[in-house]
Amino acid sequence: MYLCGHSLGLQSKSTVEYVAQELVDWQRLAVLGHHAAERPWIDYHRRASAGLAAVVGAAESEVVAMNSLTVNLHLMMVSFFRPGGRRTRVLIEKSAFPSDRYAIVSQLEFHGLDPAEHLIEIAPRAGERCLRTEDLMACLDREGPRLALVLLPGVQYLTGQAFDLAALIAAARDTGASVGLDLAHAVGNIPLRLHDWDADFAVWCSYKYLNAGPGAVGGCFVHERHGERRDLPRFAGWWGHLESTRFEMGPQFTPIAGAQGWQISNPPILSSAPLLASLEVFQRAGMARLREKSIALTGFLQSLIGHLLPRVVQIVTPGEANERGCQLSLRLALPAAQARRCHERLIAAGVIGDWREPDILRWAPVPLYNSYHDVFTAVEALAGAVGS
Ligand SMILES: Cc1ncc(COP(=O)(O)O)c(C=O)c1O
Repeated sequence: MYLCGHSLGLQSKSTVEYVAQELVDWQRLAVLGHHAAERPWIDYHRRASAGLAAVVGAAESEVVAMNSLTVNLHLMMVSFFRPGGRRTRVLIEKSAFPSDRYAIVSQLEFHGLDPAEHLIEIAPRAGERCLRTEDLMACLDREGPRLALVLLPGVQYLTGQAFDLAALIAAARDTGASVGLDLAHAVGNIPLRLHDWDADFAVWCSYKYLNAGPGAVGGCFVHERHGERRDLPRFAGWWGHLESTRFEMGPQFTPIAGAQGWQISNPPILSSAPLLASLEVFQRAGMARLREKSIALTGFLQSLIGHLLPRVVQIVTPGEANERGCQLSLRLALPAAQARRCHERLIAAGVIGDWREPDILRWAPVPLYNSYHDVFTAVEALAGAVGS
């Protein structure tokens, strides 16, 4: 009973075949594989563009598969976190994923700015676990003139809360700050319209809902209005150089227009192959249909818990479908050690979720591979674990 797609998604059926093809081509062709492989390596990353663009709601030129999430966040901050004058601050949520916070603090320090003063962290109200849109809006209003960057999550990793990105991005951009998104828990989970929402950049990983495997190549969105800008600083590398002249090996860097111009190194073929296999499945299924099933599946989990375990299991994730994705974050109203033991019992029984200290059990029924039967059986197991 696998309910952990929010952490590491399952393997697509065609993944072995995709990876094996690259191993065989490398064995058979060695360096000639750059041009003669079944899927030539020279522009391998481009094969992900159409699938990624469809999943995140962007133009193909606005997305690129590269690096991993935190690396991409750093690269995007090089271009879009440009503190100057009164605008020196970064706004994030208080329980942002630690890696985002580390990255931002290190960037502030890199610019000689004290994080204690320049990092603004907005927390939920006392006694609440989720952030209210109106509180975020009020904070944007208050801090607006001093903000250089606003980094928003798509879906909060701990609570499963999905944010009203259209409204928040518009309000954040109105302040004059750059706006970036961490979509680790949103991509492949909820429908996104990155181009229309008009954020400056977004970053994501592909090993969760995109099912591209452990440490898979991540992704990045750069809005088309920045695609050809030469005034933005960036950390450059040869794979971001114009393809038509890349192999002339000249000293001057001329970027590819669009997100691909932020690439640095040639792509990791073996970790990109599973992404191509998975994106093919997403293209066949379509995000709209996946979302429809996801709403029903997570709604079923919510109602079973409400009926069968109303007192001992508290759902931390918002109750409305449009304020969450697949995941429900569950708080067990038990002493800490007992709650943790419940999770261990569930794992031993083959019900795989994960535990986030101090008190959150995360379960995500994923529409691509979980059934209503999975959900029913998992809740029965949870009832057994909390009762025993
Ligand atoms: C919300 C969020 N942001 C950032 C990361 C860091 O990802 P990576 O290790 O790919 O940089 C994760 C990883 O799980 C995450 O969940």
